[in-house]
Amino acid sequence: MKKIYVGLIGFGTVGAGVVKLLRNNDHLLEERLGARLVLKKIVDLDITTPRDVSVEKDMLTQDVGEVLNDPEISIVIELMGGYEPAKSFILKAMHNKKHVVTANKALLATCGDEIFKTAEEEGVDIGFEASVGGAIPVIKTLKESLIADRIESIFGIMNGTSNYILTKMTDEGNNFTDVLKEAQDMGYAEADPTFDIDGIDTAHKLAITLSLSYGGRVKLDDVYMEGISGIDQKDIGFAGDLGYKIKLLAIAIRRGGAIEARIHPTMIPFDHLLASVNGNFNAFHITCDAADSIFLYGQGSGMIPSASAVMGDLVDISRNMLKGITRRVSSRFRREGAAEDIKLMSMEDIVTNYYFRFSAVDHPGVLSRISGILGKNDISLASVIQKGRKHTGAVPIVVTTHESQEKNVRKALKEIDRLDIVREKTILIRIEDDRLR
Ligand code: HSE
Repeated sequence: MKKIYVGLIGFGTVGAGVVKLLRNNDHLLEERLGARLVLKKIVDLDITTPRDVSVEKDMLTQDVGEVLNDPEISIVIELMGGYEPAKSFILKAMHNKKHVVTANKALLATCGDEIFKTAEEEGVDIGFEASVGGAIPVIKTLKESLIADRIESIFGIMNGTSNYILTKMTDEGNNFTDVLKEAQDMGYAEADPTFDIDGIDTAHKLAITLSLSYGGRVKLDDVYMEGISGIDQKDIGFAGDLGYKIKLLAIAIRRGGAIEARIHPTMIPFDHLLASVNGNFNAFHITCDAADSIFLYGQGSGMIPSASAVMGDLVDISRNMLKGITRRVSSRFRREGAAEDIKLMSMEDIVTNYYFRFSAVDHPGVLSRISGILGKNDISLASVIQKGRKHTGAVPIVVTTHESQEKNVRKALKEIDRLDIVREKTILIRIEDDRLR
């Protein structure tokens, strides 16, 4: 039986998962592929700490050259993460005519153009299914299944750690810090958890998704990003009273010639499918002109689910090799060579619904001063709730709005927060309701 030799760079959580799957499912893979995938070398700086899977000692090395320069190895799996030296290793592998599989979303979101161009020039394949949505085949769906569609919008839960934290805060009333620790212990979180909770990891995934959906490069700095560290139990409670759940959503909407791209905590209706995506699960609600509405749901992170996506790429590339072809599907932007910047809308121009929690003194006339400023800025109120009564100190006044423009909202809140009756900075959470239906 033909053998295809593979080298692995990065023996962390997902790397160990890949080794496990290669070992445990070897007969099944052989049967389905008609060839044997042979893991020849594993590169990591740490080759002594025991992992979840045991490997022969001589398979481990700290010398990346043993993979990059081995002519027998034809596919390199990069799972070390980070920008450098991962980028140099990937480029070197490609220059040495090796195909690459990677889960490195941070690298692809920032240097994808150079990496994909190199893959084209060298005539090698690059698989990156595990970079977005863990085990969910969203990359393949966008690159292949929906190739005849125009993508109208994507609403996604793309970060398992944030979703796990928000789920636990909502269902169990737990505090943010304790739940973050749990997510880290379970292996969902990035090495630097601020990537998860500040929306950076989601932005990387949205940038990759946008490129595939709208055919171009995305300037990461132009994607609006807001994380979940400011989410308070009070807002989770009020959201519930209003019939909403709070999720960290990645949103992309086609608006004529531009794309609205934003990441922020969002209130969504209880009865929408995205509201039932809990724990570390991810999901993508994609609407398109032909296929209409697609919902993809699954494990967004973790050792074996992410390894499953890596294996899918590995087998795809191996199948190409066995047929003597490469680059059957362009690695980027739906066709070779197309790499213009995607025009993203300015955040100030977006129009959506808003939730505000004002912290104000409880006196007659307070609400009219606040609503006066909102009205002056063309912000129309949908509901007002005030709970509790305090003769001293502040009370929460919760307001939801009809569709309003972000620019006007920012201007109004600036003015309101300067009022002598307002005690704390106003909390703003965007609402997606009708657009999701
Ligand atoms: N830290 C990421 C998450 C891992 O929590 O979703 C998968 O990319």
